[in-house]
Amino acid sequence: MSTLELFPLGTVRGDDGALVIDGASVTDLVKQFGTPLYVYSENTLRASCRAYTQPISELYPDSTVMFAAKSYLDPTIASIVGEEGLGVETVSGSEMQTVHRAGISPELITLHGNNKLIDEIDQAVDLGIGHLVADGIDDLQLIAERAQRSNTIANVLLRLTPGISAHTHEYIRTGEIDSKFGIPIANGQAADAVRLALSLPGVKLVGYHAHIGSQIFDVNPFKGNIKALIDFTIQMEADTGYFPEAISPGGGAGVRYEEQDSGLSPESLVKEIAQSLIDYLPDTRRPHLILEPGRSIIARSGVAVYTVGTIKRIPEVRTYVAVDGGMADNIRPALYGANYTVVLANRNSTGPTETVSVAGRYCESGDILFNNVTLPELNRGDLLASATSGAYGMSMASNYNMALRPAVVMIDKGRARLTRRRETIQDIWNVFPNQY
Ligand SMILES: Cc1ncc(COP(=O)(O)O)c(C=O)c1O
Repeated sequence: MSTLELFPLGTVRGDDGALVIDGASVTDLVKQFGTPLYVYSENTLRASCRAYTQPISELYPDSTVMFAAKSYLDPTIASIVGEEGLGVETVSGSEMQTVHRAGISPELITLHGNNKLIDEIDQAVDLGIGHLVADGIDDLQLIAERAQRSNTIANVLLRLTPGISAHTHEYIRTGEIDSKFGIPIANGQAADAVRLALSLPGVKLVGYHAHIGSQIFDVNPFKGNIKALIDFTIQMEADTGYFPEAISPGGGAGVRYEEQDSGLSPESLVKEIAQSLIDYLPDTRRPHLILEPGRSIIARSGVAVYTVGTIKRIPEVRTYVAVDGGMADNIRPALYGANYTVVLANRNSTGPTETVSVAGRYCESGDILFNNVTLPELNRGDLLASATSGAYGMSMASNYNMALRPAVVMIDKGRARLTRRRETIQDIWNVFPNQY
């Protein structure tokens, strides 16, 4: 496998050795838009959507694929995933309003969150979104109360904690109930929540949701999750007569950040989930299936590009190559040691390589973007591009050190359009009332 396969579809080296993403040379993009820069490939994003929608429409037609707004959202992304027939799962009023404004129809919007604000619930109720996912008993009661106040009925999924611990190749049923998310099945609280939901006038219980984790590379935990949801369904039907209209087994499909990662193909995930539902259900009643593939829809389509600045050599210890971005535009390495694949992007080099740590420019020793990576010998002004950077980079970006968050461009067949402009200092100053 070549490193370039971790980048958007069809990424190549141009004649001058520069990285070319979807027909656009990274060097030209940087001349026009500067760095740090997030570059997205429309073609790759659409292909990732279709990798889910096509197999699921054949194997389990009564289904919806949801895009995770938290992975990265702007109006252009929302329009593209909407055109591809996806719904959008959101976790805040701002995400919800942004996707609604981008034209996603309310029935295709879901609102998650372990502590939804009253205002957010009211917005969701007013918009008439498809589902509010009740994350706990309090949340459920609040949703019911606010819907009733508006003389309406909110469509609710209950987020359950099935006690599935997902490892790369296995899963175990742990009965683990210590999580800020969801309502535990093991201690009977989920059953209580179902009975409560069925009794509350302001809600219609549409079904069950359970998200078991992230970066899962094997299908078995997903099958275990479906099994747990169906076991619970059968138990609750016996107890209350209630059978869900919809089942939502969450997200967590693993994506490849490094060459050695195995990845999980959307086709095989869809196949296993659809087949498990069919196998585990005792008769022909088939609930609507809601899939939330999370980062796997957008991760590969995004590339982060940085310019090399200072290079600090500590003989026999380490070489630090500092770039003009860092934890303020991608906090994942500092937050939880996430690894990426990074390449020299403005030229190709067959010369000597060295192992370096690529440091960010923010005031934290832990602001290391790419630790111990092998790169050609670098000079100030070289460009570095990191693959699989489309998810949870820009969306978690901050103004730490009053950093100006990067620009984002979308490439479509060689043409770049700015979809988010670089912040200016005025954007930062705007929050100080009547000053600056
Ligand atoms: C409810 C829910 N669905 C989907 C996802 C997406 O997961 P990921 O991007 O890790 O695959 C998450 C992630 O936290 C989640 O909480």
